[in-house]
Parts: sequence; structure tokens; C-alpha cells
Amino acid sequence: MKLSTRVGLVVIAVLVLAVTGAAVARLAWPSVEQPLAFNHRLHIVELGNTCTDCHLYAESGVRATIPNVEVCSFCHEEAQTDSPAEAALLEFVQAGEPIPWKKVYWVPEHVYFSHRRHTTIAGIECAECHGVMEEKEQPVSRREVPLTMEGCMDCHDEKGASNDCLLCHR
Ligand code: HEC
Ligand code: HEC
Ligand code: HEC
Ligand code: HEC
Ligand code: HEC
Repeated sequence: MKLSTRVGLVVIAVLVLAVTGAAVARLAWPSVEQPLAFNHRLHIVELGNTCTDCHLYAESGVRATIPNVEVCSFCHEEAQTDSPAEAALLEFVQAGEPIPWKKVYWVPEHVYFSHRRHTTIAGIECAECHGVMEEKEQPVSRREVPLTMEGCMDCHDEKGASNDCLLCHR
């Protein structure tokens, strides 16, 4: 085998390892277990709620926020189904205790991210960063879109937004 062929093969092997390594890292994105079986599809498609009925600031604020008992108890003061998940919800509502939802999407403290800027100003659909929530019947346990620094920068490149370090790291 010629030296250049060998070097070529080594380069290819390293690239393949790097790519599969990245794919494995993505699959291994920490998965969480939520305290209640919440069904997005039921509340959006069948009951006609919109994202901002529950994620109050997803279009107007920095953080979308995850709804808690105050929002749920609008409709769930009393049982309206015989679902065990609703019974579990009513225990939180009646005790006035917060449901300990676990956040799946978050950025480290040294990163600035504003929902309003991306949804209302740039007109980007929620699904582009979170997957199609309208189809989910199980609570969110892992990220569908990785939203790593590389992911942020790829879209900024594509849409002509700045990739200055200080844009995101303030
Ligand atoms: C705008 C009204 C409304 C709001 C707000 C609402 N729900 Fe519901 N939810 C309903 C209705 C109506 C049903 C019953 C649907 C049916 O008849 O099957 C339901 C059913 C459920 C069920 C039982 C069905 C299942 O999937 O097992 C659970 C659990 C539930 N909701 C959780 C929640 C939680 C948690 C919140 C707050 C984050 C919430 N809901 C907010 C209207 C609402
Ligand atoms: C450009 C990508 C992007 C878009 C578009 C986007 N999000 Fe997010 N979302 C994120 C990121 C990044 C985080 C983590 C933010 C953090 O930790 O401050 C997040 C976090 C969240 C959370 C967790 C709670 C919170 O406030 O941090 C919810 C809920 C959420 N988004 C809902 C939505 C909804 C609803 C929409 C559409 C109206 C939407 N997002 C559009 C990127 C996006
Ligand atoms: C009836 C209330 C309700 C509606 C309507 C709703 N959500 Fe949610 N959403 C929740 C609750 C409760 C959770 C936490 C439990 C879970 O993960 O399913 C959640 C979790 C999420 C998360 C994961 C947040 C995190 O970081 O853990 C995203 C992303 C999200 N919702 C996006 C959306 C989008 C996009 C829409 C509209 C297409 C939407 N939601 C509509 C109640 C709602
Ligand atoms: C799907 C495309 C897309 C993704 C993914 C995305 N962005 Fe953006 N971002 C944009 C666009 C477009 C703008 C310009 C918006 C405007 O018109 O001001 C922007 C602007 C910004 C700004 C400057 C405006 C402000 O709020 O100060 C920051 C900071 C930012 N993005 C951070 C992030 C971070 C952090 C991530 C990843 C967690 C991310 N973005 C992911 C498209 C995206
Ligand atoms: C569009 C937004 C964005 C821009 C522009 C950006 N970063 Fe980041 N950066 C992020 C996000 C998001 C993370 C967190 C990554 C994660 O959680 O995987 C991060 C993480 C980091 C980290 C920590 C590494 C780690 O493993 O957590 C360093 C260091 C860093 N960035 C440096 C830079 C430098 C230097 C630049 C300019 C060349 C830059 N960043 C530009 C979004 C951005």
C-alpha cells in the first residue's frame, strides 16, 4: 500500500470515528423521567389549546416557562376523567404544591437565549428547535433537537444572524 493511501485511510477512519462519536453523544443526551404523564397531543390537537396558553412567555419573553398547577387548575379543579394521571395531578392541585417538572431544554448560565427574539422577531417555529410537540402523547424525556453551540451557530450562519462570541456569551 502506498504511503499516501495509508494516510488517506487513517484520515477516513478518524473522520468516521468522529462522526459516529458525535451521533452516540447525541443519543446519550441525558434522559429524564417526568413526575406526571402529560399528553401534548390531547391538549393541543383534541382540546385546541395553543402553546402560549401554557408556555405563557414563549412569544413575549426570554423564557417560555413550564406551566404549573395555577395553569392546570384553570381546567382541572375537579376530576373530569378517570385517568390515574389526572388523579395524580389533582393531588398536586388540591395540596397547592408545585409539580416537580424536570427541564429538558436549557442552556448553561454563560449563554444568553431569548425566546421572543427567535419566535416573534425571527419568526422561527417552535418545532424547529423542539420537534413536533403536537404529536407527543408522552411527556418530554429527552431533547429531539440537540441545541448545542454548533446547532445554534449553524442556523445563525444559514439565516445571516451574527456569530460573534459576545452575542451569546455576555
Ligand atoms: C384549557 C383547559 C385545560 C388546561 C389548561 C389543562 N387541561 Fe388537562 N385536560 C383538559 C380536558 C378537557 C381533559 C379531558 C379530556 C378528555 O375528556 O379525555 C384533560 C385531561 C388531562 C389529563 C388526563 C388525560 C391523560 O392524558 O391521561 C391529564 C393528566 C391532564 N389533562 C393534565 C394536565 C396538566 C398537567 C395541565 C397543566 C400543565 C393541564 N392538564 C392543563 C383540559 C385542560
Ligand atoms: C431557536 C430555537 C428555539 C425556538 C424557535 C423555540 N425554543 Fe424553546 N427553548 C430553546 C432553548 C435554547 C431553550 C433553553 C433556554 C434556557 O435555558 O434559557 C428552550 C426552552 C424551552 C422551554 C423550557 C422552559 C424554559 O422556559 O426554559 C419550553 C417550555 C420551550 N422552550 C417552549 C417553546 C415554545 C412553546 C416555542 C414556540 C412558541 C419555542 N420554545 C421556540 C430554543 C427554542
Ligand atoms: C395544556 C398545557 C400545554 C400546552 C397547550 C403545551 N404545553 Fe408544552 N408542556 C406542558 C407541560 C405540563 C410540560 C412539562 C411536561 C412534559 O414534558 O410534557 C411541557 C413541556 C414542553 C417542552 C419541554 C420543556 C423542557 O425543557 O422540559 C417543550 C419544548 C414544550 N412543552 C413545547 C410546547 C409547544 C411547542 C407547544 C405548542 C405546539 C406546547 N408545548 C403546548 C404543557 C403544555
Ligand atoms: C433555527 C435558527 C436558529 C437557531 C437554532 C438559533 N438561533 Fe439565535 N437567532 C436566529 C436568528 C434568525 C436571529 C436574528 C433575530 C433578529 O432578527 O434579531 C438570532 C439571534 C440571536 C441572538 C441575538 C438577539 C438577542 O436575543 O440578543 C442571540 C443572543 C441568539 N440568537 C442566541 C442563540 C442561541 C444561544 C442559540 C442556541 C441555543 C440560538 N440562538 C439558536 C436564529 C436561530
Ligand atoms: C449562537 C450562539 C453562540 C455563539 C455565537 C457562540 N457560542 Fe459558545 N456556546 C453556545 C452554547 C449554547 C453553549 C453551550 C453548549 C452546550 O450546552 O452544549 C456554548 C458553550 C461554549 C463554551 C463552553 C464549552 C462547553 O463545553 O460548555 C465555550 C468555551 C464557548 N462556548 C466559547 C465560544 C467562543 C470562543 C465563541 C466565538 C468564537 C462562541 N462560543 C460563540 C452558544 C454560542
